[in-house]
Amino acid sequence: MAGDSGAREGRPMVRVEDLRRSYGTGPAAVHALRGVSFEVARGELVALKGRSGSGKTTLLNLVGGLDVPDGGRIHVDGTDLADLGEEGLLALRRNRIGFVFQSFALVPILTAAENVGVPMRLRRADPAEREERVRLLLSMVGLADHAEQRPTELSGGQQQRVAIARALANRPALLLADEPTGQLDAETGRAMMELLRAVVRGEGVTALVATHDAQLLDLADRVLELNDGVITEPTAAVAAPTG
Ligand SMILES: Nc1ncnc2c1ncn2[C@@H]1O[C@H](COP(=O)(O)OP(=O)(O)O)[C@@H](O)[C@H]1O
Ligand SMILES: [Mg+2]
Repeated sequence: MAGDSGAREGRPMVRVEDLRRSYGTGPAAVHALRGVSFEVARGELVALKGRSGSGKTTLLNLVGGLDVPDGGRIHVDGTDLADLGEEGLLALRRNRIGFVFQSFALVPILTAAENVGVPMRLRRADPAEREERVRLLLSMVGLADHAEQRPTELSGGQQQRVAIARALANRPALLLADEPTGQLDAETGRAMMELLRAVVRGEGVTALVATHDAQLLDLADRVLELNDGVITEPTAAVAAPTG
């Protein structure tokens, strides 16, 4: 909305209120999120910690507009997702949000450079601008010399670097990563998290990263913990006076 951008700057990048999402109905229903509320400030790297089945993927899919909640509100970059129709959600996902999946999800027949360029093709970016941005992103993630290789010719860590570069192609405001280190060994996983840390600083992006790897939490500005569909903030609990 015109004249709204100034007010938008002061708002959190993500605001989630009393979010609920169940799968199935009746006694067999699984309550994946049972009233989740939190905020992510602009420029923050927030880790979303939780055991397998705690609701991390469900939450990221909702924040990214890939799924619709049963109850509660989600604001991304000042927009209430409930106010967006199919088209609006598509535009949000394409232009404002970058996704990184545990399984990399690269297109096997495309080179690293072509994979990174896909989101820019989808929004019909100028080809010269696209090629320059792809080159810059590949060099940022340390893959300048691997631009012409296909995913099968790259290691797991390198494939995930391509996926991160691809997620950043359209200069998203928000980066959502679902266990991006889940298929990597500990050392490569650590390097990946350090790359995300550098990207959040360098590109001025906000990131919400799901992980069950406790080793990586120290690289986050803040940790949110999901337990059975309910959120707790361990860092806030530490700051609170005891006794
Ligand atoms: N499509 C689905 N249908 C039924 N149950 C699901 C579906 N997706 C997730 N669940 C259930 O919801 C809960 C949370 O899952 P998920 O969000 O994938 O957790 P996490 O990513 O932390 O492992 C789990 O009990 C899971 O089995
Ligand atoms: Mg998951």
